[in-house]
Amino acid sequence: MQQSTGSSGDTAQLLGEREFTLACRLIGDYAGIKLSPHKRYMVHNRLSRRVRARGVDSFATYLDLVQADAAEREAFVNALTTNLTAFFREPHHFELLRTRAQAHRQRENRPLRVWCSACSTGEEAWSIAMALREAGCPGEVLASDIDTEALDAAAGGVYSQERIGGLTGERLRAHWLRGVGANAGWVSVRPELRTMVKFMQLNLQAPHWPALEPFDAVFCRNVVIYFEREAQKRLLERFATVLRPRGVLMVGHAESFPAGHPAFRAAGRTAYDFAPG
Ligand SMILES: C[S@@+](CC[C@H](N)C(=O)[O-])C[C@H]1O[C@@H](n2cnc3c(N)ncnc32)[C@H](O)[C@@H]1O
Repeated sequence: MQQSTGSSGDTAQLLGEREFTLACRLIGDYAGIKLSPHKRYMVHNRLSRRVRARGVDSFATYLDLVQADAAEREAFVNALTTNLTAFFREPHHFELLRTRAQAHRQRENRPLRVWCSACSTGEEAWSIAMALREAGCPGEVLASDIDTEALDAAAGGVYSQERIGGLTGERLRAHWLRGVGANAGWVSVRPELRTMVKFMQLNLQAPHWPALEPFDAVFCRNVVIYFEREAQKRLLERFATVLRPRGVLMVGHAESFPAGHPAFRAAGRTAYDFAPG
């Protein structure tokens, strides 16, 4: 296969080694995401769209633009994130949340606060809100992600029939409104759920986070697999500053970064109680 030299404007040629290395460095610097060498085709495909959208003549010129222009940097990050998600993905976490929420409701006179820290297109955040409502527990959910396009979709709270296929009829009736006429085939989240969730762009790897009220539960699922080990450790220390004692951290099925930390105790499958000193 022919390879781009960096000066050719033809995105049909595979992204050159030099441009791939630079793209990997930039996404590492901006988002903490590490890309392995076998992701070169994926990066090629995703960046080709941006090269065409910006009408530039090569990947090299495009990457100059990414470094010079904050809006293009955002589009570059959006293009390289992987947003795979689903409603009630890894359902055991929602069972645990429901149990905790029921106990919280009996004990405390304040809403349970949950941070959905890599919410992608919103399915996880709305699943958290549904679980809290079903537990009869007042809740506040902060849903954040680095990807502004995914966040817009999340905040829109509108999904196709295909996306909500896994939800039971009972859940659909309780939490969603079916579109009619031109909106047939779509569902929209009910206002009762909508008011529970606030959306915010937040880069987990940013040097500073905005001030955050403490949380009773943090969902950080299927995102740290993209981060270096050291970055995972730093993130865990930062979660320790925003979790309430006895709060819980849920991580993805292939992630175990809180294991071994003295303040995080295993609380079932890929869930960890925060129990400082
Ligand atoms: C595979 S999705 C997981 C979505 C959801 N948590 C789940 O488990 O279904 C990974 C998400 O992490 C987000 N992400 C990647 N790097 C991030 C960062 N540095 N800060 C915040 N979000 C990030 C991506 O934009 C993407 O939406």
